[in-house]
Amino acid sequence: MPIQLGDNLTLEIEDLAFGGEGVGRVDTLVVFVPFVMMGERVEVEITELKKNFARARLVRVVTASPERVVPRCRYFGACGGCQYQHISYEAQLRVKQKQIADLFERMGKFPRAVVAPVIPCPTPYGYRNRIMIRSQWNGPAKKLHIGFVRQDNQFVEDLTECAIAEPVLNEQILQVRAKPPPKGGIKVVLRVQPENWVVPRDSFFQNNFFLLPKLVETVRGFLGASGAQHLIDLYCGVGFFGIELAEAVTAFAGVEYDQLAIQAARQNAAARGITNGEFIAAKVEDALPALLQKFSAAQTAVILDPPRKGCWPATLELLRTTRPAQVIYVSCHPATMARDLNILTADGVFTLAGVQPLDMFPQTQHAECVADLRAAQQGSPC
Ligand SMILES: C[S@@+](CC[C@H](N)C(=O)[O-])C[C@H]1O[C@@H](n2cnc3c(N)ncnc32)[C@H](O)[C@@H]1O
Repeated sequence: MPIQLGDNLTLEIEDLAFGGEGVGRVDTLVVFVPFVMMGERVEVEITELKKNFARARLVRVVTASPERVVPRCRYFGACGGCQYQHISYEAQLRVKQKQIADLFERMGKFPRAVVAPVIPCPTPYGYRNRIMIRSQWNGPAKKLHIGFVRQDNQFVEDLTECAIAEPVLNEQILQVRAKPPPKGGIKVVLRVQPENWVVPRDSFFQNNFFLLPKLVETVRGFLGASGAQHLIDLYCGVGFFGIELAEAVTAFAGVEYDQLAIQAARQNAAARGITNGEFIAAKVEDALPALLQKFSAAQTAVILDPPRKGCWPATLELLRTTRPAQVIYVSCHPATMARDLNILTADGVFTLAGVQPLDMFPQTQHAECVADLRAAQQGSPC
């Protein structure tokens, strides 16, 4: 082993890995370092040593990247929420595009050109409409910490504001702090209700309102390009995509297992006078077989917007055997998305026509992606 725990060394950062850490090398050993940028020369201290890689703490930037900027938030580096505030916003977009293209190339052998440039968020700070505040009794400090999980994942960073949260949520953080919960760990979800949507307290809604029009425009563009007339909106939440796209198809159905979200979806559709859709409270795995029989495959587009863990293998297998004309896969977790796209496109059953990333989560390691998949004609060689 060329290095030891606690060693101080100087590294060149050659890349930013998925998740935000910089990649440097000591001989062939990869060293991951947070809060750095490609091209930088940095001094680090080794904090973790494994057989195939090491982790290090940034001690000092020796040669800074021209893309390095002053982080806006005073908790940056300690709080676990953000990874990229030290990089200009334009550079963040380029980094995310490269990471997604790398991932798709590595996991699915998809050509890099299939991944489009990332659509930026018009408000790269103050955009998050939902945050989770935690409390934790800090024994040594004899103090209740109220804030977010720290970068080290073990403790709560005590904070009074969040630079990426909507301003109204920052007022609510102060209200939570003014009436602190008793000792011990609690979690409080603070959220801004979207205008004109009914969303039950614990149901999902996209957590950046500012980029929602672009997200809908992207999905609408893909749907329009296939010309599908039926839409199956899987993992539909409060009916967001089905309702936004209702006028583009003759009939649609949404499926979601959160019963309260489905009730809200029906209210959201009724409030807009939408009558060409139905909402089914069920697991996708249970409801999909009947829906794929109801709508003719050649005329059907299926939206998949699963949780971070991705789709069930049986759901992907059913799509492979029934071959709806189009699958539009929406995901906030490009790694599970790449895994699932790999399954859908195996043996040429579906072709990946394009991937549009959107920066729904500026300053953080996360990105939203929308993928457009088209089915090979039934009976065609694959
Ligand atoms: C990422 S959210 C997408 C919601 C919606 N498409 C939107 O844009 O607001 C995923 C949704 O899938 C639901 N869900 C998770 N697993 C499910 C399953 N097996 N069957 C049905 N719904 C599921 C969750 O309750 C959540 O509402």
